[in-house]
Amino acid sequence: MRAVRPASFMNLSFSEEQLAVRETARNFARQELMHGVIDRDIHQHFSEELRKRMGELGFMGMMTDPSFGGGGMDTISYVLAVEEIAKVDASAAVMMSVNNSLVCWGLQKYGSDEQKKKYLTAVATGLYSGAFCLSEPEAGSDATSQHTTAEDKGDHYLLNGTKNWITNGGHAGVYLVMAQTNVALRHKGINCLIVEANQPGLVIGKKEDKMGIRGSDTHSIMFQDVKVPKSNRVGAEGQGFSFAMTTLNGGRIGIAAQAVGIAAGAFELALAYSRERKSFGKAIAEHQAIQFKLADMATKIEAARSLTLAAAWRKDQGLDYIKEAAMAKLYSSTVAREVTSDAVQIHGGYGYVREFHVERMMRDAKITEIYEGTSEIQHLVIARELLR
Ligand code: CAA
Repeated sequence: MRAVRPASFMNLSFSEEQLAVRETARNFARQELMHGVIDRDIHQHFSEELRKRMGELGFMGMMTDPSFGGGGMDTISYVLAVEEIAKVDASAAVMMSVNNSLVCWGLQKYGSDEQKKKYLTAVATGLYSGAFCLSEPEAGSDATSQHTTAEDKGDHYLLNGTKNWITNGGHAGVYLVMAQTNVALRHKGINCLIVEANQPGLVIGKKEDKMGIRGSDTHSIMFQDVKVPKSNRVGAEGQGFSFAMTTLNGGRIGIAAQAVGIAAGAFELALAYSRERKSFGKAIAEHQAIQFKLADMATKIEAARSLTLAAAWRKDQGLDYIKEAAMAKLYSSTVAREVTSDAVQIHGGYGYVREFHVERMMRDAKITEIYEGTSEIQHLVIARELLR
């Protein structure tokens, strides 16, 4: 008889520690992020003070080992915190997500001890931010087609090329840059290099004037004959693409949590508004048309949250999570777009003006269907895993 593999499914009740993390994030979001969120959106600005505060509270390196300045927490705690922060300010949530999921996690898993001491500790404590540089003008979804080159010069690499859409690009202290060293080997010739912000030849390009997540800065970054010491290569020679893909698998859980947060934040506002706003002699919440919308919104959010927590749980259990992370990201980002649009609809004309927050949330939601792999890429990742 064939051996039956034990099935694994999430058996989840939150620990006291996880609930405390959620509470801290909720209080921080309401007390310190809410004030000024509209201004940050208008002026495309996030103060260094506020970014540092997020570091002080431990939000920049939540899953990083405490010996490197992190919180040593699990992915569930991280997801709970990202959701609470994204409910109020999706820009803060993406800065947090890139730092935690892409930069800290990547360095912790693949970095040398020396790299961890020097760079991971600084990013995890919030001394400075990290940036993850994979996308290029001609390599977005098609990430194997890297045009940035890292020529092997013996004791160093000579880095040349342009990276696009880099979150934290304008203020990061350190950049993880994917670059092609051996074209003949295609994706197996790509390396991941750590580049310090003040390195000669690193040029910060224009800041993108974005539709949403305007509080977070997105730049193109140029590398012009940047000398990167060999000791700054993350992992083995040619491991860069695998590093990027593996790191993005986890990153998708963070973006799924961000999408759940944006949807939940808009839903909470719409629910409250529907109780206050009167039309045809009663609160609009008493109209069935609104009740149906609210019920659908809440159901979708709950389903998206469950997928996201299930992916996080699998990661914490050491189980495969590539498919589950892509599913969580795909579904939660669709939910974020739909729910925020419904929240604007419930607010009527008020939903279309800045003061009521939901118009910003609707703009913020859209990016979750684009970055860390478009929805089309998530379909591809899920199908690959199903057909493997
Ligand atoms: N996990 C681990 N490895 C993976 C993987 C995954 N999800 N997907 C592909 N790979 C590996 C494959 O196993 C293969 O390795 P081997 O040759 O060793 O077997 C290698 O990668 C190449 O795979 P394919 O031949 O399938 O490559 P492809 O070109 O057909 O497809 C892709 C690759 C999945 C489309 C990939 O290019 C991809 O994920 N693209 C999207 C990139 C992305 O998400 N960019 C986001 C930028 S970062 C960002 O947005 C951060 C921010 O600022 C917020």
